[in-house]
Amino acid sequence: MKILVTGGAGFIGANFVSYTLRNHPEDRVTVLDKLTYAGRAESMARFKRDPRFRFVKGDICDHDIVDHLVRGSDAVVHFAAETHVDRSVTNASEFVRTNMLGTQNLLDACIRNGNTRFHHVSTDEVYGSLGPMGLFSETSPYDPRSPYSASKAGSDHLVRAAFHTNGLPVTLSNCSNNYGPYQFPEKVVPLFITNLIEGKKVPLYGDGANVRDWIYVEDHCEGVDRALRDGRPGETYLFGGRAERSNAELTNILLFEMGMSSDMIQRVKDRPGHDLRYGIDFSKAEKEFGWYPKTPFLHGIRRTIAWYRQNTAWWKPLKQEDWFSSGVYSEQEKNT
Ligand SMILES: NC(=O)c1ccc[n+]([C@@H]2O[C@H](COP(=O)([O-])OP(=O)(O)OC[C@H]3O[C@@H](n4cnc5c(N)ncnc54)[C@H](O)[C@@H]3O)[C@@H](O)[C@H]2O)c1
Repeated sequence: MKILVTGGAGFIGANFVSYTLRNHPEDRVTVLDKLTYAGRAESMARFKRDPRFRFVKGDICDHDIVDHLVRGSDAVVHFAAETHVDRSVTNASEFVRTNMLGTQNLLDACIRNGNTRFHHVSTDEVYGSLGPMGLFSETSPYDPRSPYSASKAGSDHLVRAAFHTNGLPVTLSNCSNNYGPYQFPEKVVPLFITNLIEGKKVPLYGDGANVRDWIYVEDHCEGVDRALRDGRPGETYLFGGRAERSNAELTNILLFEMGMSSDMIQRVKDRPGHDLRYGIDFSKAEKEFGWYPKTPFLHGIRRTIAWYRQNTAWWKPLKQEDWFSSGVYSEQEKNT
């Protein structure tokens, strides 16, 4: 299969390319990525010599590039997005442009090309926030609460509209919080790990009671691969890690695993509109194609810490980015 992977220079996209090249020797992968601050050519360096891999720098909103690349593909797996909730609070327009208009541009090209298979990668955040009980499922009502999750919700609806209106063979997956190698160090797990390696404190939002369900990125990649090959057109599949942890618990686990004390925690003002809890019922994917998250949380966390310890050359330059010295991140620090 010839697969066009959008956002393949990002965290999950790069891990997905690696997964595909390892597990499907007959496949060919083209990555289309704009290389925003979150897209790293270095994350794709290991595929460079593989003749089955090709990288094209470009924007998913660009009609001509997208049209050309979709014409040469059997399937599109769509990861490209603006993804950081905090950045969406201060610059929502870019999220609407890439996440909604970019997705529609890809769908239009797939329709023009005679209905190319399309898998859309989305987030559990489209369902809003849970109380202390219950889980999200594929039938949960949409209730996005940040510009990021609203733009992802919009893209999900556009993908389903292309299925119902144009008969485009689509599948969707909505996944919980990922962690693992090659994640940009603005997100909580790599931010905390890299801060601790650098001897810096970790900024914990509010009372740390917000709960996320953590999934190791490799498990998510396997789920996307299974949905692409075995999912039923028009269907949505939820993926989760069966590892709900509050932010305070996550922080204490990282501190313990890295041999540090709670003195390294710096309490910061909470994120505006911070969702309380996400939790996932992934039984549909389990029933339909036998998927479940295989990596135990502690095992995944230890692998992730080891990767960031061994790959300082990958992440150190990224922490020079303006985000770490201005904008929301520093505002939060000032407000403590
Ligand atoms: N990280 C998570 O925990 C998580 C959880 C569930 C779903 N998702 C979804 O998975 C996908 C990938 O997330 P990630 O964490 O790898 O994101 P990321 O921010 O690490 O990577 C996004 C990639 O998209 C590229 N990109 C952005 N705008 C583009 C554009 N206009 N044209 C082409 N490329 C563009 C960036 O350069 C980058 O390489 C996203 O759609 C996200 O919503 C992420």
